Amino acid sequence: MNRILSLVNKLADKHSLELSEYEELIEFRNDESAKLLRTLAVNIRHKIYGHDIYIRGLIEITNICKNDCLYCGIRKSNTNCERYRLSPDEIIACSDEGYELGFRTFVLQGGEDSFFDDNILGGIVREIKARHSDCAITLSMGERSYESYKYLRDCGADRYLLRHETADRDHYMKLHPQSMSYDNRMKCLRELRGLGYQVGCGFMVGSPFQTVKTLARDLKFIEEFKPEMCGIGPFIAHKDTPFRDYPSGTLELTCYLLSIIRLIHPPVLLPSTTALGTINPLGREKGIMSGANVVMPNLSPVSVRKKYELYDNKICTGEESAQCRECLTQRMKSIGYNVVISRGDIYTFTHEASSESASVTL
Ligand code: SAM
Ligand code: FES
Repeated sequence: MNRILSLVNKLADKHSLELSEYEELIEFRNDESAKLLRTLAVNIRHKIYGHDIYIRGLIEITNICKNDCLYCGIRKSNTNCERYRLSPDEIIACSDEGYELGFRTFVLQGGEDSFFDDNILGGIVREIKARHSDCAITLSMGERSYESYKYLRDCGADRYLLRHETADRDHYMKLHPQSMSYDNRMKCLRELRGLGYQVGCGFMVGSPFQTVKTLARDLKFIEEFKPEMCGIGPFIAHKDTPFRDYPSGTLELTCYLLSIIRLIHPPVLLPSTTALGTINPLGREKGIMSGANVVMPNLSPVSVRKKYELYDNKICTGEESAQCRECLTQRMKSIGYNVVISRGDIYTFTHEASSESASVTL
């Protein structure tokens, strides 16, 4: 068997490769390796999660941000961005609407906006939990102090998404202003883990200055950190950022990496992202068919959707929440998958397992 296919089989078998092997797997990828990866990734996901797809209700609570990430459309230096902030009542109303629509996880995401201090954000988390005790709350509010993460966890937050963005220090510095650091990003991820959050890391595919070497480091980091969730999607330029002229990441490479990540850490919760749906009309379906198992319909009020524009031409900015949910349900059905009403926690051996999933060796 040729070298690249044997690497795929080794990965499926051991869930681990050397750094140089990850590089080879990416550098010398071809249709055959993509197909084999996809098949193995989908098979293992079927064994663990069947044909279930988990949904997360995404509430984009603020586009005000003190950071200036060079890739991001809502960076502080973008003076063309019309700023908004949802009130605690509006956020809670979004979660009520989401609950009625069958969501059992809410993701509160936003820029680093000092309005959402521990008191305000913690109060929102407590209130949503009090109203919907069977739901999980995921926060994605950037870098905060250990004390803040701890307080929010005590208030009831279950999960935290903080993409590592790149596991290569030099690359990190090219994507972020000097005020931000790779070390702090990684420290936050470790602290979140230590506090008992289910943690999500991740990166953009095709971000400026990304190379096969930096991608291999991302994969090694995922292999070692074993995040409960991993968000990857293509980089897409925003016209009002310094990266306006850089090309988007591709569907092909994103799907290839989704399959690899599924094989590295089989139970990982892996979203097929809106960015993937933005670069290709069937991007989210293709992501699922490459090994992803989560979709994140938008629950933000339609009046603010367009303002949370991280990149150009973002989709799903005109539809009501119910339409977004229905659209994704139909899209999943069209490829043989079912959106389920569930918190959608990561599979672990301590969960009550169905007879099928109990037989999986990970
Ligand atoms: N402030 C929080 C944080 O930094 O984690 C959450 C919001 S931030 C906008 C969420 C994610 O959007 C980032 O982690 C980044 O990977 C992604 N993102 C930002 N700009 C993007 C772009 N131009 N293309 C694709 N994804 C982008
Ligand atoms: Fe803060 Fe993008 S720079 S959310």
